Amino acid sequence: MRLGEKPGTVVGLAAAALLFVGGSVPGSVSGSSTGTRTVPPPTAAPTPTPTPSAPPLKDFQRPVTDCAKHKCVALTFDDGPGDHTARLLDMLAAADAKVTFFVVGEQAVHYPDLILREVEEGHEVGNHTWHHTQLDRSSIARIHKEIDGTSKAIERILGFKPTLMRPPYGATDARVAKIAKSRGLAEIIWSVDTDDWRDRNSSIVARRAIRGLRPGAIILLHDIHPTTVDAVPAILKAAKKRGLTLATVTDLLGGNPKPGKKYMGE
Ligand code: NI
Repeated sequence: MRLGEKPGTVVGLAAAALLFVGGSVPGSVSGSSTGTRTVPPPTAAPTPTPTPSAPPLKDFQRPVTDCAKHKCVALTFDDGPGDHTARLLDMLAAADAKVTFFVVGEQAVHYPDLILREVEEGHEVGNHTWHHTQLDRSSIARIHKEIDGTSKAIERILGFKPTLMRPPYGATDARVAKIAKSRGLAEIIWSVDTDDWRDRNSSIVARRAIRGLRPGAIILLHDIHPTTVDAVPAILKAAKKRGLTLATVTDLLGGNPKPGKKYMGE
């Protein structure tokens, strides 16, 4: 989806994609196809053709992977979207891997087309604050502003608010938890840190991520670094080899993360 397109267009395309996947178009079965329909008398009132109402884009967030049946692992990409996110999305699509993006508000508003693409391609989008702020050192007013501003920016793009948040640096406290709960947000930390922001070396990043591949793991990466994106094909290949399914965080957590609860991964 490109910048500047009306939300209606977006939802329309989303609907078309969903209907295509579903294989049927409501209202497409007309009476004439049965062969028994008689021509109505000229006085008959025309049957109003209902405008098919497009399903919301939120439908793309419905569970796609049953992690009770599959051995799931969640790759998470923070701080974007950025200049390398589109390339990452191409790689993920080629491997049919679903991931979660924790986006910062100030980046989201610059890349609405990428946020849309992420969701349309089956990934999940979560809140990572507006300015990448350390929330446990912020005033309550600031925490509200950082979280609400970002959720609203995401809602303006997608038509719905996120249900996951990741506090920058994993830094949270009871105040953040309470606000997250009131906003319907689960707090998602991680169990595997690749330190990819520090080591801009794709072999190192891939090795750390691959070492952490296990069922239930939540792996921290950043799609703003080209070296991280370069590491992804090796990670996807290793996951496949081990019979692991790349799933969104919500799917990894059984489809229903609890607002205000903090999840660390396995
Ligand atoms: Ni971050």
